[in-house]
Amino acid sequence: MIFEALKPQVSQIVSNTEKTVNERLLNICELLETHIEYYNWVGFYFRNGDKEELLLGPYVGAPTDHTVIPFGKGICGQVAVSNKNFVVPDVSAQDNYIACSFTVKSEIVIPIFVDGKNIGQIDIDSNTPDPFTEADERFLEYVCEKVSELLSKSPK
Ligand code: SME
Repeated sequence: MIFEALKPQVSQIVSNTEKTVNERLLNICELLETHIEYYNWVGFYFRNGDKEELLLGPYVGAPTDHTVIPFGKGICGQVAVSNKNFVVPDVSAQDNYIACSFTVKSEIVIPIFVDGKNIGQIDIDSNTPDPFTEADERFLEYVCEKVSELLSKSPK
């Protein structure tokens, strides 16, 4: 199972103190995009201080204009408010969706919690329709826990 093989690599990236936090986050994006064929855009969004908006963090994939997303807008903005995983098998069926690229068919967003607070999320776009299963959710929850450890240990 690819996810089981990737977990130790995620853990290794997170504990590499020779790199900055953002370098390690980018390395996680690269790892996931490289090894999971249906992960075509992988990135992080983080809450902008106390403002009700998300800012784009490290990512791999096509550049996006959506570097700032208000809470409540799009799939990402909805997760900022709901604190829940959001799996979208078909983005064309969503009213509250922010399109980044016409090639994207589906999306998954998993929140990241530090001290019980939703401080950001990992966002994955896929060019494949309906590819995500519960195994993706469990794996990405693991990734988000590791990122949470990284952010709570490291000074910003
Ligand atoms: N599709 C997202 C916007 C971010 S991009 O996927 C990079 C959304 O609806 O929130």
